[in-house]
Amino acid sequence: MNSRCSPISLQKEFPMTEPARDELIRMALDAQQRAYVPYSNFPVGAALRAASGKVYQGANVENASYGLTICAERVAASAAVAAGDRDFTAIAIVSRGGATPCGACRQFLAEFNPALRVIMVDSEHQDHGFQATLDDLLPNRFDKSKVDRGKRP
Ligand code: THU
Repeated sequence: MNSRCSPISLQKEFPMTEPARDELIRMALDAQQRAYVPYSNFPVGAALRAASGKVYQGANVENASYGLTICAERVAASAAVAAGDRDFTAIAIVSRGGATPCGACRQFLAEFNPALRVIMVDSEHQDHGFQATLDDLLPNRFDKSKVDRGKRP
């Protein structure tokens, strides 16, 4: 855990109520059960909450052509966008060891809310979670403002 991440017991910067956070973690654990991981045997589950109150689940889906694998976080975010929800407020991610989201997923999620709360939980020791904002996890990211600035007149 680096200095930008806090143990999930520290709720000061993260006013989400404990039951709401626990529910999100439960839904991520549920999604993790459906991960398709014949190559890595590393199941990841995600649960993404939108401002609408809806929660979108995702699990990693691997492929014999390894590079086609899609991470749990991007599955969840794509499900939300396809359902018409783009206003994300928090995501819980569960895996063995409580992995942080990969760079591609940080960039993908930041498109919709750079201040997203990211809750990372070890699926085997559920008390060992920590959380951060996407801003902390992906500072100085590439975003729409850079595209607009670089456009030809
Ligand atoms: N994985 C995720 O689902 N999310 C991440 O943020 C990191 C990695 C998956 C991809 C692959 O199926 C497995 O974990 C091992 O890399």
